[in-house]
Amino acid sequence: MKQKLSGIFIVLIFSAITVFGQNSLLLHTEQAETKINREIYGHFAEHLGRCIYGGIYVGEDSDIPNIRGFRDDVIGALIDMKIPLLRWPGGCFADTYHWKDGIGPREQRPTIVNVHWGGVTEDNSFGTHEFLDFCDLIKAEPYINLNVGSGTVKEASEWVEYVTSGNISPMTDLRKKNGREEPWKVKYWGIGNENWGCGGHMTPEYYADLYNRFATYCHGNIYRIAGGPNVDDYNWMEVLMQKTSRFRHLVQGVSLHNYTFTTSWTNKGHATDFGENEWISVLDNTLKMETLIKRHSTIMDKYDPGKRIGLIVDEWGNWFNVEEGTNPGFLYQQNTLRDALVAGINLNIFNNHADRVKMSNIAQTVNVLQSVILTKEDEMVLTPTYYVFKMYSVHQDATLIPSNLKTKKYELNNKSVPAIHASASKKDGVVSITLCNLNPNESENIEITVAGDDFTDAGGQIITSEKMNNYNDFGKDETVSIANFEVMKPENGKLTVELPSKSVVLIQLK
Ligand code: AHR
Repeated sequence: MKQKLSGIFIVLIFSAITVFGQNSLLLHTEQAETKINREIYGHFAEHLGRCIYGGIYVGEDSDIPNIRGFRDDVIGALIDMKIPLLRWPGGCFADTYHWKDGIGPREQRPTIVNVHWGGVTEDNSFGTHEFLDFCDLIKAEPYINLNVGSGTVKEASEWVEYVTSGNISPMTDLRKKNGREEPWKVKYWGIGNENWGCGGHMTPEYYADLYNRFATYCHGNIYRIAGGPNVDDYNWMEVLMQKTSRFRHLVQGVSLHNYTFTTSWTNKGHATDFGENEWISVLDNTLKMETLIKRHSTIMDKYDPGKRIGLIVDEWGNWFNVEEGTNPGFLYQQNTLRDALVAGINLNIFNNHADRVKMSNIAQTVNVLQSVILTKEDEMVLTPTYYVFKMYSVHQDATLIPSNLKTKKYELNNKSVPAIHASASKKDGVVSITLCNLNPNESENIEITVAGDDFTDAGGQIITSEKMNNYNDFGKDETVSIANFEVMKPENGKLTVELPSKSVVLIQLK
């Protein structure tokens, strides 16, 4: 009995330390060696709702200022955010898309029904040339998703040839006839999307065989991305790795899709109208990304111990109920400070797993799900998520600094999450540390140890707001954006920072 009581006492003391104890972050700058690919900061634009039409492309005759039909304001904002890569044309749309519908004179392009997203008419005025032109304008690398679900091997193979080949062939002749003499440089090609679901409801065995067949005929020095698992479907990963990695030259990446709901697919919750229970629930669900990456990586390690094949998280983000009065098929949602925390946490996770995670794409760039930009006619809003991407752009192509984080917990009812979440990198002699304080009520002090480096300068930035559900809206002043954050230089390799409640913070040491 006495022993049992002392056991309980020790557990209580330990819990008290994790709830009330100190937060600390130890940076192992001397162990920094893994590159954080800039593609981890990638985005995704699908023919869905007002993402492409209205959000990115308004046509040359529009009154909205544009370059060759692409919105000036959106181009400027994406360049400022340093968008490195854009995935297109879907999503579920990709497995219904027949690329030849979207080339040639616009007035001759056929119209189709966008069966997945609202049953609206797709006039194909935004096709391959437009997408690649837009990527040039925003200085982003393109990532094209091929159609496996309803397409043919011939169609996929011809699309790759049309875009990337410098040879003389019927496809390159067609490209030239359509005004593009030189091939484009498109490295990233997805072979199918969600083939366990909207991309054909296949078994992993069937898809893996199809993948090998499609990949064989998509020629050239390209990076082929296999359609990977939904969330925690570890069997899909196992079968796919087993059946595809036998042909090493055919697979360079495997995708993973994971969305965050307030509680579940059937209870997505509201984007702006929420309380603290929904705040912690969304953050708790977001943190599950770490387990998914670890467990999928363990399976990948079995077949690819050298980590040659990238885990490509090419769809992630918050998925809430659509805003009232909007088309349910358009997936339009607002974006609050909570989304900023979700973006900060996910990006920290991807940075910390940069040895395996080689690319990620938040869904979706404009007007759909967790967007960085919202538009209404000629107006544009930059969301809290936009500011996180802008702030975190310092990690692009930097070297990951492995770290040890000890953090108190933030708890509510039966939920418990770490109070602080972090990642760090170095580039050009600058150490950049990104920290999220998940606690919406309390500021948190954290002691950061950066042994081995002598810094002469320190600076910071912060994203926070008065209320956890503040957001930026059309015609109103911004309530969530980036502000300066004062930081002292480290003394004897240590600095203490007070992170305000519900904040995302960048600290830079030079
Ligand atoms: O991003 C919205 C949809 O979510 C995509 O089209 C699909 O791939 C996923 O289910």
